[in-house]
Amino acid sequence: MLGYRDGKLYWRTHDLAQIAAQVGTPCYIYDLDGMCAKLRTLQSAFPQAEIHYSLKANANLAVIRALSAAGAHFDAVSGGEIFRAVRAGVAPERIVFAGVGKTRHELDYALQLGVAWINVESSGELTRIGQLSRALGVRPRLALRLNPDVHADTHPHIATGHAAAKFGIPLDQAAHILDAHDPERDPYCIEGLHVHIGSQLQSVERTVEALQAALALIDRFPFLRTLDLGGGFPVSYIGEPVPSVEAFAAAVQPLLAGRQISLILEPGRYIAAENGVLIVEVQYVKRASSDTFYVVDGGMTELVRPALYGATHDVLPLRQSDAERTLAHVVGPICESADVLRTHVLLPLLAEGDLLAILHVGAYGAVMGSTYNARPLPPEVVLEGDSWRLARRRQTWEDLLREEI
Ligand code: LLP
Repeated sequence: MLGYRDGKLYWRTHDLAQIAAQVGTPCYIYDLDGMCAKLRTLQSAFPQAEIHYSLKANANLAVIRALSAAGAHFDAVSGGEIFRAVRAGVAPERIVFAGVGKTRHELDYALQLGVAWINVESSGELTRIGQLSRALGVRPRLALRLNPDVHADTHPHIATGHAAAKFGIPLDQAAHILDAHDPERDPYCIEGLHVHIGSQLQSVERTVEALQAALALIDRFPFLRTLDLGGGFPVSYIGEPVPSVEAFAAAVQPLLAGRQISLILEPGRYIAAENGVLIVEVQYVKRASSDTFYVVDGGMTELVRPALYGATHDVLPLRQSDAERTLAHVVGPICESADVLRTHVLLPLLAEGDLLAILHVGAYGAVMGSTYNARPLPPEVVLEGDSWRLARRRQTWEDLLREEI
């Protein structure tokens, strides 16, 4: 809930410029209550589902703790994400380990901890899990991640369910693995299927297609009791229409009705995106032929989505202005022409020192950040009720050298 009051941009009761004045810019600000509210909305749309928040979207410890307290389980795609969740106090049995390239070291860690599930992406991985499980004397629960050969309606970089994608196991291979599975002899138990066809999905039809492919396998192998439908629920970045979670629920629920299947969902963006902003400060106003560039102190190192996917994020000045709006580009300080935060955006005339909020940065913002150009990672601030606190401090130049020997 962002809005102007007395000419200043507030997020609920918080004056964003005041926070920026204390922690400096660039900085990320997250609304933890907002994230928990999104979790609840999703839970009401899918009352029977277990919601596994996808840590890759935003794995700040404060975010994990808040969502965990609100009842979330977690989807991790690396040993590091499992470690973060455990450090945040999440019990291993509330963590699922997914990912296309799990190393022996990561699998060993997850098996020893006793995570809830491992989502398997290849027969090679299954063999590896079998060997490690025998050596450790454990018996993990597994789900096979399917590649249903469904083309998700989204940016090609984040479509994952078509045959040419590196993700998942083709349906015929999955059937072969399931045929050969002997729960008495194998040191693991395959109990579920997992399918995630992409992120920021623009239509529900493709999800239904993927679900149908999974259900066809479940019908053949009744020992499959759990279906993880992945994440992908979209958010509207600049007011464009996107299908609601209720629309996904209305399309999916009838196909599941009457079946004894536990449903899992793995939302990341839907929970976190709208609940984060990046605050940047205008350093220079540059005019070149007919273009106006606001050069700010954050860029592709803090938000790579515009450079990587051509993503469009809304921009709001922290100080309200009645001045005439003109078209401008908000660009970062990095030595790359791709380093833009937003092109062709209507903004009131800005001056050096003015602050801007880049919206919908709570998912795939800080987690995709880098220290390119030797830029320290910015701080992360969390809002909770009427209070706010620093959840991660700003890196220093010294921090950047710490691991070098
Ligand atoms: N489950 C699996 C297996 C995934 O690969 C992903 C996202 C999710 C769940 C969560 O998807 P979500 O609900 O957030 O759409 N960096 C990109 C997004 C990459 C998504 C990767 N996988 C972006 O900024 O748009």
